[in-house]
This record gives sequence, C-alpha cells and structure tokens, in this order.
Amino acid sequence: MGRWSLGTRVAYVSDINSSVRGALRLPDRARVFDTTLRDGEQTPGVSLTPEEKIEIAMTLDELGVDVIEAGFPITSKGETQSVREIAKAVKEIEGSTKAEICALARSTPKDIDIAVDAGVDSVHIFIATSPLHREYKLRMSKEEVLERAVRAVEYAKSRGVKVEFSAEDATRTEVDFLIEVFKAVEEAGADRVDIPDTVGVMSPPAMRALVGRVVDELGIPVSVHCHNDFGLAVANSLAGVEAGAQQAHVTINGIGERAGNASLEQFVTALKFLYGVETGVDLSKLRSVSELVEKFTGIQVPPNAPIIGDNAFSHESGIHVHGVLGHPGTYEPLSPEVVGMRRRIVLGKHTGRHAVEQAVKQLGYDVSKEELDLIVQRVKELGDKGVKVTERRFSKIVAEVVGGRPGARLMEVPEWTVVTGSSITPSAWVRVRLRGEERRSAGWGVGPVDAIANALKSIEGMPEFRLIRFKLNAVSRGTEAVGEVYVRVESNGVAAEGFGLSDDIVDASIEALVDALNKVMTLENGN
Ligand code: KIV
Ligand code: ZN
Repeated sequence: MGRWSLGTRVAYVSDINSSVRGALRLPDRARVFDTTLRDGEQTPGVSLTPEEKIEIAMTLDELGVDVIEAGFPITSKGETQSVREIAKAVKEIEGSTKAEICALARSTPKDIDIAVDAGVDSVHIFIATSPLHREYKLRMSKEEVLERAVRAVEYAKSRGVKVEFSAEDATRTEVDFLIEVFKAVEEAGADRVDIPDTVGVMSPPAMRALVGRVVDELGIPVSVHCHNDFGLAVANSLAGVEAGAQQAHVTINGIGERAGNASLEQFVTALKFLYGVETGVDLSKLRSVSELVEKFTGIQVPPNAPIIGDNAFSHESGIHVHGVLGHPGTYEPLSPEVVGMRRRIVLGKHTGRHAVEQAVKQLGYDVSKEELDLIVQRVKELGDKGVKVTERRFSKIVAEVVGGRPGARLMEVPEWTVVTGSSITPSAWVRVRLRGEERRSAGWGVGPVDAIANALKSIEGMPEFRLIRFKLNAVSRGTEAVGEVYVRVESNGVAAEGFGLSDDIVDASIEALVDALNKVMTLENGN
C-alpha cells in the first residue's frame, strides 16, 4: 500500500497507482491556474463584490496557486477596477508567494489594452476555433480565426506581458486546424497554450490522445481547461497531465459555467497522492479557502463533495467506526488534517460505548462512567426511533446528562452580562471557569457577540481564537423565536464548529462559542 509520510500524517492509497506511472508523461510539478474569479464567477447567480474578489485573490495567493485569473476586464468598469485592485493588492502582500495575475481578453486590441492597463502580469487571450463557433457565433472562416489569433498574440506581446492562448471549444475543433492555430500562436510569441473542453465533452482517453498530440507538436507548455458537463472535469484534467500537460485551469469548489469547472481541491490532492505530482498548493488550507468561496458565492458545497465536503471524513456507526477507531487508514484514504478537515464520527444505534466516549471527549467533556452509560443509552434510544444523532443533538444529550455540573467541560461561562444600545459601545462582562479555575473579564465590540468574544479573548489561558463564521437562524416564529447559532472558530490552525440554541440570541451565541472553544481546546490537547 502506498504511504506518504507528512509528519505524523499519512495517506493510504493503492500501489497500482505508482506501478502504472512509468507509462505516463507526468511533470515533476504541475502548475495550477485558478479561474475561480473569472470562470467561477460566471456560475449562474454568482456576483462577487470587488472586496470579496480581493479577499479571495489574497487567499488564493496564500494557498500557493501559480496563476490567478482575476477577471474579464472588458465586461464592465467594476470588473476592470477589481482586476486592477487585485493586481495591486497581491503585489503588495509581504511574504506572499506572489501568484501571476492574469486577465481574460478576447482576441482584440481593445480587450488586451484594458487588461494590460489594469496592471496584470499576463493576459489569457481566446478565440473559438470549432466549426460550430466559427459558423454560428463568430461568422468567420478558419483563415480569419487564425489571423485574429496571431495578431492578438503579437499585439499582447508588444505590450510586454506574458500570453496564454486558449482555443475556445478546442475539443470540438478539427485536430489538424487546432494544431495549426497553436503552432501559429507559438510562433507569434505565446508563452503557453490552453486546450479548453468548453462544454465538457471529452472522455479521459480522448483527452489523453488530444493533449498528447498537441504536446508532441509544440515547444511551449500546454494547459487544459475542463468543464464538468459529464462529471469528468477532474478526470479529464488529470488525463491531460498524464499526457504531458504542465498546467490545468481549476476553480475552488469546482464552480463555473453550467456544471462548473474542474475542482482545484480534487485536482491537486489526486495529483499528489495518486500520481505523486507536486503543485505549489498548501493542501492544509483547502477547506478554509473552500469555505470562503462558499460564503461569498452562496454556492453550497454538497456534503458528499470529495476532499472538502462535510461527509468526506465522516463515519457512520458500525463497521466503519470500529475500523477507523482501530486504524484510520481502514476507511480513510488520507488523514483529514492533510486537507484542513477533521474526522467526524456520526453516532447511531449501532455505535459502541468506545465511540461515544471519544465523541464526548471531542466536545470537551469529562464524564463519569454513569454519565457515559446514560449518554450511550440516550443515543441508542434515538437511533432506534430512526432519528439521526447529529452533532447538535449529541451535544444537547451530553449537556442534558451532565446537567451543567461544574467542571464537566474544560471551559464554561456560568455568568455573563451584556450592555448595548443605540448610543453606546456594546460591552460585555463574563465569569468563566477555565480548566477548573474561575476567571472574570470584560470586553467591548461592534455588537454584543463581538463584545463577548473580546471579553473571552482577553482571559489568560484562553486559546487565541478567530471567529470565522457566525450564522443565526430563527427556528420558530415571532419576536420570541428560538435562535439557533452556528459558529466556526479557528485557533492556531485548528478549526472547530459550535452550536447554541436559546430564546435569547446572545445566550445562544455564547453557548455556540463555548461549544467551539471546548472542541478547539480538546483538539489542541491532541484528543
Ligand atoms: O470554457 C472555455 O472555453 C473558457 C474560455 C474562455 C477559455 O472559459
Ligand atoms: Zn471555461
């Protein structure tokens, strides 16, 4: 079984993967061209503000992608401005990996000028080459398309930027004509060419054959850009790399036109663990970047999404939980921490006492044998009734069983006060029990929850934390509605979620913060 050591973390994959590598044209390192801010933003219903785009760009730079396609400047003044600000912001980050900032342009001087004037390092020039596009969209002959492409590349090069050239709908273009166009743009000075599978109509063997031919004919790096219409975007991108492509266009969470583009997180993780090919991407940041893009785009990541989906490292009760508790490799191809995730044990009627005990510990509780018996019984009763024992329900069961017994959790907030109003700065006072010791503290903030968080942060011995997600839902109607709060906090690279339920939203927020901070402390303690 293949085993990669990453400190104490490991991945367990099939040895057959490495035994077939000799037949592939794999690079030592593959380049990642991220188009979340361009093709990703073309996802129906998605529109990002310039501030959101800048934050995503900075995060992508930190993630370690090679190219950030910041946008399509000709589309609007706002888009041009965003591209300009991204180019400026990324260049100004200290200690950044400094990704190449790129902008999309059609094969016209006007598009190219707007992109170059926005301060980008490279332009991604495209023109459609397939018969369908030539006849019904461009109304151009092959000769006209070729001439346009060459003139555009020459012009962009004369403006002193790098050029990547895409033949839109390449995979439905006559192969000889496609190669003729690519050779002509290479001669005109293009630095890279890209093969877009614009409507996702390739199979992996077809992709391998096409990319292999293009690579054989050219002397410059070849990239692929795969759409997911048949669910094959990642497989086709990998097939491209197998055939000698040195780069792939990808998006965070696989967002993009129609069914989306190849997902960055799946592509880079498969490359590393199934093909032994490195990228510059820091895998441990994948989940947090995915969450940021999910938050800004409003496109929810399905729970069963590979690598970063909520269920990707969750195990239901029974044989799998038993196996994973014995050795995680039994039902996990890689350790969740490698991609910034954590293992979750989902409880049910088949769950054993040991699994329940582990889950109780992960919540930051220290329970007696009798309390544990009661919790196991309550979990089984719910399971028997066919009720799913979610993390929230389980937290509630444990809280009910220990009944607020002092010292049951690493950290508790037995007392708090918040003062707020339209003409004062919200302030909070808290009494905290931290690892058995009483502490008191006060804090100010932009709102009551911020004030509470600041009061907690200033307590000695409290983990340094950052609130990265806060969601409040009313679970009943009217002004007396019960509020349900979900938070996600991060502390020294460890992230945890917390839930709170109360008819007072500040109380629910505190409950959620306490829940998440207990989990953080438990994870930091190595449980
Ligand atoms: O899918 C596609 O063809 C594109 C081009 C602009 C490269 O996104
Ligand atoms: Zn595309």
